[in-house]
Amino acid sequence: MASAIEEQRLFAARQRSEELRSLINYHNYRYYVLDSPEIADAAYDELMRELRRLEEEFPRLIVPDSPTQRVGGEPVAAFGIVEHQLPLLSLANVFDDQELQAWYRRAENLLGQEVDDLVCELKMDGLAVALVYEDGRLVQGATRGDGRRGEDVTANLRTIRSVPLTLAEGAPRRLEVRGEVYIRKADFERLNEQRAEQGLPLYANPRNLAAGSLRQLDPRVTAQRPLDIFIYGLGWWEGGALPDNHWDALAALKALGCKVSPYNARVAGLAAVEDYHRLWLGRRPDLEFEADGVVVKVNSYRLQEQLGAVGHAPRWAVAYKFPAIQATTKLRDIQVNVGRTGTLNPFAVLEPVQVGGATVKLATLHNEDDIRRKDIRVGDTVIVQRAGEVIPQVVGPVLSLRTGEEQVFAMPGTCPVCGTPVVRPAGEAMHRCPNPSCPAQLYRLLEHFASRGAMDIRGLGEQWAGVLLAQGLVGDVGDVYYLEQERLQGLARMGEKSAKNLLAAIERSKQRPLANLLFALGILHVGGQTAALLAEHFRSLDRLAGASAEEIGEIPGVGPVVAESVRAYFAEPRNRQVLAKLRRAGVKMRLAEEQTSMAGPLAGQEFVFTGTLAAYPRSQAEALVRRLGGSAGSAVTKRTTYLVAGEAPGSKLKRAQQLAVRVLDEAEFQELVATAEKAE
Ligand code: IVH
Repeated sequence: MASAIEEQRLFAARQRSEELRSLINYHNYRYYVLDSPEIADAAYDELMRELRRLEEEFPRLIVPDSPTQRVGGEPVAAFGIVEHQLPLLSLANVFDDQELQAWYRRAENLLGQEVDDLVCELKMDGLAVALVYEDGRLVQGATRGDGRRGEDVTANLRTIRSVPLTLAEGAPRRLEVRGEVYIRKADFERLNEQRAEQGLPLYANPRNLAAGSLRQLDPRVTAQRPLDIFIYGLGWWEGGALPDNHWDALAALKALGCKVSPYNARVAGLAAVEDYHRLWLGRRPDLEFEADGVVVKVNSYRLQEQLGAVGHAPRWAVAYKFPAIQATTKLRDIQVNVGRTGTLNPFAVLEPVQVGGATVKLATLHNEDDIRRKDIRVGDTVIVQRAGEVIPQVVGPVLSLRTGEEQVFAMPGTCPVCGTPVVRPAGEAMHRCPNPSCPAQLYRLLEHFASRGAMDIRGLGEQWAGVLLAQGLVGDVGDVYYLEQERLQGLARMGEKSAKNLLAAIERSKQRPLANLLFALGILHVGGQTAALLAEHFRSLDRLAGASAEEIGEIPGVGPVVAESVRAYFAEPRNRQVLAKLRRAGVKMRLAEEQTSMAGPLAGQEFVFTGTLAAYPRSQAEALVRRLGGSAGSAVTKRTTYLVAGEAPGSKLKRAQQLAVRVLDEAEFQELVATAEKAE
């Protein structure tokens, strides 16, 4: 009898394991080959766990081609294939303190001794690569591939600035280092925004963007992507000596010129690992790259060797994962709001779901093409993702859960706010409401006009823009400067004091720098950086307004599309009227000769530049600093706050060191600017 029940259980288990294998293989393919996952990592992990559990209980179900028996997917054939001299292993996952403790006990039991010396690292969410150096020179770089064989992406890896092409003196004659290529969250968002504007398919997450960038057949494309790397270990080495433990080896690699993560920590005992995990789980939103967990490694190479590996995962290391930042939920509806330049922005209305500790009800959908490409339909079960602290995104539908009831989305033919027929200019990805007096556009424009970084009119955008429009007190941004105390006081919930405060804030805004004004006008394609370039070059609004598209396009960093958009803005009679109102009201329209004491997050800080910056010409970097309220000096003095040192810095660097002026490299400068822009 018992054996009949056993038989039955085995039969059920066999069926389920086959099902799981084909599911996992499919998702492996989506993830590794197509770089386009369909389900959340957490859901995938759960499938793998279920299969592993079944195979543990019924070992005879294990077949050589089970996904548990291999590390990743098939390499694509277009690159050369590299046989790894030593396989690149993957990591077993644990999800809570208990599982971590079980891993640790097992290691101690196997070794028959206490293991106190551990290294904790962040598990970067990028892609693994192996770099081979011979006589100190980079000779080969490959992706992990399936662990044994990867793709030869040497030419692409060479384009990553943080990958050393030559190592410092003292390297073993041959060695292989391993690391993670990744892309920063902010860069990911910026690139995806550009792609959305151009109507190109979007990347689902920074990891896919890093993978897609590294696996470009044209290294020049890779070179344009802001890829970075952290070296997290040694593969093998010959003809030389290296330390006998991971921590010291990392220090040695760092000394040889490799980029090693600054977040690594050598800790004693498991409690410290748990603390490290908690700490970085809390700080995860502040990290500039995505990390999906903590890697814990036994430090001693001798003990590592003794522990060995099971299947494709070493016993001496484990990944303690962070909770998923993806989740699945139902897409209830797709709605559209109207942006400041009239763009129709579709967004998802979701059944509320917890993602990485926050409830998500709405998510962006970028544009109609993107919805089509991802084949997202109303009624779908969709994967929702919060990348960092930004607006949640819909990654895509779970096709296997389709019922057939789902509705394909179509952009409305008329503006949902004013009813004007929408247009989609040739070559653009966004639909637009062409009516410049559309109340939705006016509202967003007013909000933008008053925002920090623009005219910075406290209280206007967030509180009163809607009321002022609804009451007919303003019909365009020029009217803001003609508001009267009496009319304002008559508004519901606006007392004498708040009316006075609002008017005072409006008055102060007349003195904002020209770049802020240009940004505030909401000219299509003119963001903060372009506004700074235009202001710097033309130095007065009148001169800019009189310029041809060719003249505008001559500024380095301003393309023809932007130039034409600026020209068209100033050609429009309605806009000229607005500008006339601003002028009459006394709004400053020229570049101030003295750039001191401007409002802005960098106010009071003086920047001096030396050497070549990779990302922008120096004039542009200086304009950027000024737009954010800082000043740009030409020589290092006691008053200099920062010296920004690019490639091949000059004598200013020495001077800065003598005067103990803080020196920033380009990455630090960019970070500071990004933070300042956020604070705006
Ligand atoms: S160690 C045997 N350290 O995680 C050790 N891996 O599933 C294997 N990863 O393919 C790698 N950060 O792409 C290690 N600090 C880190 C890591 C890390 C990210 C990735 C790596 C690897 C995967 C393991």
